Order: sequence, then C-alpha cells, then structure tokens
Amino acid sequence: MLNSSSNDDIGGDFHDGRNRCEEAYYFCQCDRLLCSGDPGGRRWFGIGHSGQSTGLRQSYAMKTRQRWLLMIFILSAFLALLLLIFSGSGGSGAGKALNLNLDLDQLTERNKCPACFGVKLCPEMIQGKIKLTDWTKYSVTKLMNQKNVFYADWNIRGKETKLILKKLAHDNELDNLDKTICERHGRDHACDVTRSVQYLIDEYSHASQVHPGQNILHGGKIGEGSDILLCPSHRKMEFLVAAAKKFNKGQNPKTILANVLTTILLNPEPLILEAFTASDGWPFPKYYGSCGRIVAEEYVGRSLSQYMHEPFKTRAHLALQLIEMVNKFGENPTNFILYMTDPSPDNFAVNENTNSLKMIDLENIIVVDKEELILSKTKDADKLLVSESMDCEKNKGGAISKCFSFSTDDLCVRPLTDHNYYAICAGILAPNPLSSDFAPGLLHSIPENDKAKLPQFTELLSQCKDPSLGSLDLNRIEAAQELLHILKDYLK
Ligand SMILES: Nc1ncnc2c1ncn2[C@@H]1O[C@H](COP(=O)(O)OP(=O)(O)O)[C@@H](O)[C@H]1O
Ligand SMILES: [Mg+2]
Repeated sequence: MLNSSSNDDIGGDFHDGRNRCEEAYYFCQCDRLLCSGDPGGRRWFGIGHSGQSTGLRQSYAMKTRQRWLLMIFILSAFLALLLLIFSGSGGSGAGKALNLNLDLDQLTERNKCPACFGVKLCPEMIQGKIKLTDWTKYSVTKLMNQKNVFYADWNIRGKETKLILKKLAHDNELDNLDKTICERHGRDHACDVTRSVQYLIDEYSHASQVHPGQNILHGGKIGEGSDILLCPSHRKMEFLVAAAKKFNKGQNPKTILANVLTTILLNPEPLILEAFTASDGWPFPKYYGSCGRIVAEEYVGRSLSQYMHEPFKTRAHLALQLIEMVNKFGENPTNFILYMTDPSPDNFAVNENTNSLKMIDLENIIVVDKEELILSKTKDADKLLVSESMDCEKNKGGAISKCFSFSTDDLCVRPLTDHNYYAICAGILAPNPLSSDFAPGLLHSIPENDKAKLPQFTELLSQCKDPSLGSLDLNRIEAAQELLHILKDYLK
C-alpha cells in the first residue's frame, strides 16, 4: 500500500493576483449593500445627478432599501443561530434544545458501552468535576467543531487542571463504527452495538468454547480498522491489551477487551497512550482515561504550527526534541518501532512554560514489532530502507509536486528504515516542507551571529531531507544525529 499526501497551498492560488482581486470585489459588494455613504452605494442608487427633491426621494428610497436588506441579514443570521442551537443539542428532544450549554454527559454516549473507549472517568464527569470550558461548551459549536475536540477543566481536590476531551472521530465515522461492529457480528446496520461487541468478545476469545483459539483481536474476523491493525503481530496486540488492563485495573476483563476492540476499529490513540506512557518518558500527552466515547488527555499547549515565527533558539530547541522523539520511536526498551505517518505541525503541541514538545495526534501511528522482524530474518534485514517522495499531481493548476510518501508493505517487513527522519526533515524542518503550510520550514532564518556555531547546518538539513541532494555522503539517520549534536552544543 502506498500512501501520499501533499500540501497544495504552498505558493498556490492564495497569492495569485486574480484571486485577491476577486476577494476585493467580494468586499466591494458587501460595502454596497451594507455601508451607507460609500461611493459604490451612491452610484448604485443614482444619487447626485438629479434635482434636489428627486435626490431626497432617491436618498430616502436608498435608506429604506438598505434598512430592509440589513433587517433581512440580521433575521437570517438569527435564524441560522437558532438552527445551530437546535441541531447542536444532539437531537435528544426539543425540550433540551434551548439549553445553550453542551451536555457533557450526553456527549459521552455512555449508553453505547461497552462499545466505547472505557468508563474510568465517568464518575468525575457525572459528578461535574470535569467541565467543558471556553467556546467548546456551547451547543452551537457542536456542529462547527468538526474535529470533535473540546476544552475542559478538571477540578482535582480544589485544583483546576486543563484537559483536552476528544471523541476521536467525526460524527459520521462514529456512526460507521456502529455499523462495522454490527457487520462483524453478522447483524444488519441497525443492531444493538452494546450486545454485538459483547458477543464478539464472548465467542471469539482464546477461552471461548464456541470458536476455540479464534481470538477476534488477533484473527482475520476483526477485518480492517485503524492503523494499529497494520503490520499485525501477536506480541503487539498482547502488549496493548496488557497495558489497557493495567490502566483500567479493577474492571471486568471482558469489558476491557470490548473497549479495546471498539478502540482499534476506530482510532487507537488511547491504547497507544496507555501502552507508551508519558510517565515512561514517551513524548505524548498524559492520558487520564475515558468515559464512553470521550477520552481525556493533558492539554499540552499551542500547536507547533503556531511556533513558526518564534525566535530561532526556541525553534532549534523544538527541532532537537523532534530528532530525539524519532530516535526513541526507533530504539526503545519495548522493541516496537513507532512510525509517524502524518507529521503535520498541527499534530504536535508545545508546553509554553517548558517549551517541551509532544505529539498529540496518534491516530496514524504505525506500530511495528521489531523483535519479530529481527527473529524472522527477512531479506535485506540489515540494509537501510531509504524513503522517497513520490510525484503527485497538484489539485489546482495540475503542476507536479513531491508528496510525503510511505509504503506500509515496506515498513512492516524492514527493521531498519529512515522513514521517521524523512518525516521530520522533509515534512517539517527543512525549507519547502511536505507536511506544512509554512514554506521556509521550522529551521528558517539562522541569526547571522549564530551561523559559526552551527557548522554545515544547512547542508545537513538538506541531506536529511533528501540524501541525494546533499554533498556530505551521509544517510538521513547519520545527518539527523549530526544535527542533534550541533543543536545540543548550540543550545548549551
Ligand atoms: N493534547 C492536546 N493538547 C493540546 N491541543 C490538542 C491536544 N489534542 C488535540 N489538540 C488540538 O486539537 C486539534 C485536533 O486534534 P487531533 O487529535 O489532531 O485531531 P484530528 O484527527 O481531527 O486532526 C490539534 O491540531 C490541536 O490543535
Ligand atoms: Mg490532527
């Protein structure tokens, strides 16, 4: 399977004069309709070239027309707002529709459990210790909040902690999840998911008498789901299940398995956070638990995309952490390799007090069992697999550009790859990055006075982006380690 994504907007139509002109025209139209006394408006209504009485009549007619248009505009905006409030209330009946505050309990959909992510945090949510904050508490935003990410405060013994609550998918993806569970059970799309998920765990587990030895979490019956199911491995699944059991200690083991099944069909983020924990030094948010179809994570801070204009030293510190992050992804005590396949700066966030960087969107991480690959002694196991950007066609204008690309088939079988270094160097750090809208790249504009402290910096960066471009005869991993040393010295 070959996947690729591109950034169509770099140097694209936004900077095109024709479009700007059209934008200006659009604003002119607005002015004509809404602003009294603007020249366009006067021309429109023909004022200024007739006798006074006609002029007054026309001016009066203009004001009346403008008032009408203004009233129509206000009325439609009000109706649109009402519509959002009503539809944003989750369709739980008209009685609750006028409640502007989004009901967190309703948002959790705990009635779907055990076809949910877990219940560990339900008491805190039901008792009102976790509360939605900012604009995300209003039901009007439910419709606009496509990403289903909410901000919240958690009152722990009188101290407020900032949280991020995620539904982990868009509403239509959550509806499809229900259909998928029913399908795996062999029922029609409108089945009772709470029963179907229990059935799947009861009948398809190692202990089951019905289908002995056919564990749904390991076998083919689970079918396709999230990216955690790519590069399948028994040890990987056991590792994730053990972590989920440890995290949700005290709960019914079958319920935990049903939660794991639901999660891996949709988005494995909570499982990855349970298995590769912040307390073990993984550069991910702290995971607090879930209630129904909502998970709660540490609010890390603003996303990396908002750090592109920070001073060079700050950005150098963030780049250093990105290299350390991918070093850990490849070499760690678990003997699993984690591959980032969506290295957009929006998927990283920075703690503003410590400047520490964390990866916050783990949906598309591919986990590979390195131990199994080494034991299986596959062909070319000791050779470095070098990632390459594929040509892809831009949507607008049809120009050919390079795209961030990877082959899952290769990542699943080769224990030694430079994919993660390619992801951060070509994706974010170097100029014209493949995964960022910011054309200069994260490491732009080295201060003149600091250039001597960063020897061969630009060459190393381009070598890491594309080894065939550089003149240093280093592969991507070697170039990244050089960059790491230089950055460490520079930041001392
Ligand atoms: N733990 C977090 N801390 C801070 N911001 C977050 C966190 N998780 C998500 N966000 C914010 O929400 C946005 C969307 O979340 P993400 O998990 O990337 O969902 P999506 O799959 O929709 O991209 C992120 O780009 C970021 O701005
Ligand atoms: Mg994201």
